[in-house]
Amino acid sequence: MRRPIIAGNWKMHNTTAEARDLVTLLRPLVGKAGAEVVVCPPFTAIAATVNAASGSNISVGAQDLFWEDKGAYTGEVSGPMLRDLGCRYVIIGHSERRQYFGETDATVNKKLLAAYRNKLLPIVCVGETLAEREAGHALEVVGRQVREGLKGLEPDQARDLVVAYEPVWAIGTGRTATAADAQEVIAFIRRTLAEMYGEVARAIRIQYGGSVKPGNIVELMDQPDIDGALVGGASLDAVSFAAIVNYDEK
Ligand code: PGA
Repeated sequence: MRRPIIAGNWKMHNTTAEARDLVTLLRPLVGKAGAEVVVCPPFTAIAATVNAASGSNISVGAQDLFWEDKGAYTGEVSGPMLRDLGCRYVIIGHSERRQYFGETDATVNKKLLAAYRNKLLPIVCVGETLAEREAGHALEVVGRQVREGLKGLEPDQARDLVVAYEPVWAIGTGRTATAADAQEVIAFIRRTLAEMYGEVARAIRIQYGGSVKPGNIVELMDQPDIDGALVGGASLDAVSFAAIVNYDEK
């Protein structure tokens, strides 16, 4: 009942021309995918990406948004602006935002509510650092990020939510969590969501992210609670991203 969702997070990569070229290569490769396909370019390449993806099964997401809709907030980009460009999704609270740009569960929460207000579908990222995992605090940290980040969200809204579990130590390091480790934390996230939203938790899609590659996607997707992936590095190459998207192809 949960349709898998594979999203590519391009991070700070791709000019408009590079974005257009990547999507042009990607379109025919993922045209028959069973999973939902999303790419998340930097703000400056969103318009070119939406254009290049037009008429295909590829949706476009932003990598962040600000929580106010407009005002004197130099450098920020708001929900209405992203809607205007044709974004359907928005990533919120990526660990790089938390680590380098001071984002907290409180800012994640404000951004989440702004996304819903503007009819953008949020992909909310959570995940523990290596030190937190080694201290045995992974579940506690992730549980707090989920509860604080989603504060005030109604069950009806929660149905459309996507959560991405991305252990910080697995991002860009080539070190993937084992499928069993990922399943353990993701099942815990689903139990937490069930405490918050009851039955609706069974409809909420939860992705794994962190060094996802064509070679490990099948094992990850075989886990009962993993509903997709948030892919960084491997999403910058059309062939490898397509291989991840088409993980279920025989
Ligand atoms: P990675 O990034 O696939 O390059 O590890 C994942 C992410 O940060 O979303």
